[in-house]
Amino acid sequence: MGIETVGIVGTGQMGLGIAQLLAQQGIRTVAIKMTGGDVSGKYATVDKSLQKLVDREKLTAEQKEHILEALTITTDLHELRDCDLVIESIVEEMDRKQQLFHELEQITSETCLLASNTSTLGITELASAVQHRERLVGLHFFNPATVMKLVEIIPTLHTPNDTVERLHKWVEAIGKTPVVVKDETGFIVNRLLTPYMVDAIRAYERGLADAAAIDTAMKLGCNHPMGPLELADYIGLDIVYHMATNLYETFKEPRLAPPPLLRTLVIAEQLGRKSGLGFYDYSTRPATPRKL
Ligand code: CAA
Repeated sequence: MGIETVGIVGTGQMGLGIAQLLAQQGIRTVAIKMTGGDVSGKYATVDKSLQKLVDREKLTAEQKEHILEALTITTDLHELRDCDLVIESIVEEMDRKQQLFHELEQITSETCLLASNTSTLGITELASAVQHRERLVGLHFFNPATVMKLVEIIPTLHTPNDTVERLHKWVEAIGKTPVVVKDETGFIVNRLLTPYMVDAIRAYERGLADAAAIDTAMKLGCNHPMGPLELADYIGLDIVYHMATNLYETFKEPRLAPPPLLRTLVIAEQLGRKSGLGFYDYSTRPATPRKL
């Protein structure tokens, strides 16, 4: 059976990015804004992102209209009833995600696959909240979802092989490259990337160099598109904090624990690019490195 209609729950940076990506692939996509209220701002965000592609002559105005037609953004979870796959991308809290999957199991048909885009939470633990555990897998996209080529597929001990094969083919069909990874905190990318960002924050705390120097060193020394502090700001410092905490709680290695400065920034709600302040100040163009 094909995957023709896909639901995305959560319209934050990742959820909306995945929804746009799928609509760009011609897939009927229903995105749910879980915080209620007006959805026009979410349509405007997608519109603006597509318009950039039109301006760069990567899309025609007509293609842009088709993409917008393929995408529905709503606050009503029941709109997911005809989906073949629903990808959850809400706040990184186990209880809220489990509650959501429990509801999704009631709303969707038994053949609909349920997936989580969690960065580090356990897929098996999420699946323990549903009756048909074989329906729930991890499908982990990367930010920005429209551009990044990788999708991690995380089966659990309950996942049938043919579901993994089906998702593998589907990920390729949407223009991405899948890797299959066991259900262990951080999967592959965040298991390796989070300690790197956390080490960079510690180096900054120790005064090894300023933020711009640390980022420039890794960009020019390793050919990375962004330096580690710039990337942490881009991902969101709250998310980096959650990832480091989850990795530390799983593996108990002190090096994985979130550094004090990261914690302070999160408490201060200076979460990086999305809140205008992080390791950089985004009120200027280009952003200005801060002295913290
Ligand atoms: N659809 C298709 N292509 C798109 C697009 C869209 N909606 N939007 C942009 N693009 C294309 C652009 O046209 C451009 O392509 P060309 O170079 O061929 O013109 C390309 O994507 C890059 O876009 P930009 O020119 O706007 O941006 P950039 O060159 O400055 O790159 C970046 C920005 C892609 C973010 C780059 O800096 C980068 O790769 N950074 C690292 C990102 C990263 O590591 N992400 C992973 C984070 S970890 C994570 O996400 C996991 C987690 O759980 C937290």
